[in-house]
Amino acid sequence: MTTRRKKIYEGKAKILYEGPEPGTLIQYFKDDATAFNAQKKAVLEGKGVINNRISEYMMTRLNAIGVQNHFIRRLSLREQLIKEVEIIPLEVVVRNIAAGSIATRLGLAEGTPLPRSIIEFYYKDDKLGDPMVSEEHITAFNWAATQEIDDMMAMALRVNDYMSGLFSAVGITLVDFKIEFGRIYEGDFSRVILADEISPDSCRLWDSTTNEKMDKDRFRRDLGNVIESYTEVARRLGIMKEMPTVIQGGVA
Ligand code: TMP
Repeated sequence: MTTRRKKIYEGKAKILYEGPEPGTLIQYFKDDATAFNAQKKAVLEGKGVINNRISEYMMTRLNAIGVQNHFIRRLSLREQLIKEVEIIPLEVVVRNIAAGSIATRLGLAEGTPLPRSIIEFYYKDDKLGDPMVSEEHITAFNWAATQEIDDMMAMALRVNDYMSGLFSAVGITLVDFKIEFGRIYEGDFSRVILADEISPDSCRLWDSTTNEKMDKDRFRRDLGNVIESYTEVARRLGIMKEMPTVIQGGVA
């Protein structure tokens, strides 16, 4: 069914198809996993199904606290209906604890709490390896306006506060995460809303007691049990109780 729809865009982990009505798209979550700008690749059976559900859960919860986003409704195991946006070519990263690239760049031991939550911007360009950029670059090259940067930062901090609490309540520490934003046009005006996905592919999630990684670092660093960890995140959030059978049955 999906394959007959017009493909609008294919990324590393998701495909966007034309939606049933103007201004909508269908977001399809693949099982493909990539890391280090796609130098490392694998197919993790069931990942798309889990991320579809976790992203739906986060976007729905965030919408309820007033963080507007692209999610409309789930369509199937791997598909969700979303609002079509003009993606702002930035990855917005919020960090609470040093890990990954900030640990390397600034020589911080992984696990060091940061003095406060830090927001970083990366320019989305695979050929360049998504370089970190500053607000100066963003406004000079017109990737986003000053007001849009302010809006993205305010929303990113709200997402961080809300998700930190949500995860902490189920024994998970939100170390850092990446989000993306898009513009929606209303007449002559445009508004910035949250887009893309929020899943263990785009967050660092550590078990609060053991500090065990429950996110894509398990794949990046060959730690094993990737799907089991993603499933555990979903289980703790109280979603996807049916997941184990879905995975074992193989997902079409
Ligand atoms: P980093 O420490 O590698 O810069 O990653 C920061 C956060 O952003 C981490 O939660 C993983 C996420 N991330 C993505 O979602 N996509 C990416 O391409 C990269 C590099 C990181």
